[in-house]
Amino acid sequence: MDNRAIGIFDSGAGGLTALRCVREIMPNEDIVYFGDTVNVPYGEKSREDVIKCGRHNIEFLKSKNVKVILAACGTVSSQLGYIKSDIPVLGIIEPVCKKAAMNTKNGKIGVLATSATIKSGIYKKTCTKISPELEIYEQPCPRLATLIENGHISTDDVELLRALSEYLEKINSLDVDTLILGCTHYPIVENAIRNLLVNKNIIILDAGREAAIVLKRFVFESNLRSENTSKSENIKYFISGKKAVFSKVAHTFLGYSIEDLILPEK
Ligand code: DGL
Repeated sequence: MDNRAIGIFDSGAGGLTALRCVREIMPNEDIVYFGDTVNVPYGEKSREDVIKCGRHNIEFLKSKNVKVILAACGTVSSQLGYIKSDIPVLGIIEPVCKKAAMNTKNGKIGVLATSATIKSGIYKKTCTKISPELEIYEQPCPRLATLIENGHISTDDVELLRALSEYLEKINSLDVDTLILGCTHYPIVENAIRNLLVNKNIIILDAGREAAIVLKRFVFESNLRSENTSKSENIKYFISGKKAVFSKVAHTFLGYSIEDLILPEK
């Protein structure tokens, strides 16, 4: 048993989609969330900068005495192999690749993720390591996280639809039966994505949700479960940027206000 909090980080508010899942399946766990909002988006940064941000975020959460960290960011998860830590850090890529490999019937999987994540080739590598015969199509979505972070999330938002139509064009021309949302921002616009998919039977997988399930297993199997039984709001949110911006976008993501719980990083 370990009553310390679980640490979760992302470049911004995207990781809140994973936090929501963690909260849903482990309501007794305290959570410390860190959104590196001053540096969002990570997806257009160099590999070196992504690693640097990842290291910084892990150190920050460690300073808050967390017991385990979920890198609720596909972009940092794609470089986790290059980031050392003395406490466990789980990424979002492998869990969803395993699920996709299990789920696909025709062996054709599409991935939407940031430019940096796609450049790393991590989804393809991870999926084909699980099952070499899988065919993976990886689509970079350079503007998507920023659009979402700036509130372009409704199913009729013109800018969002323009970007998504571009990013889904190739996916729609391929016969994929499984689509991985490989960036934690993307589940917020899942309905808009679904509306634009020609094949309505495609299974859409949320990398953050699959990671939350694996995190739960890890916490239980490693005997790190909290004995806390209080169901009260046991989450702290730290950000490196402006509170007003994060507070607004977090409200849209979570469906309730967390304004009073947001603290500055420094
Ligand atoms: N939500 C993050 C990810 O999963 C970061 C997106 C970004 O900052 O570009 O990759």
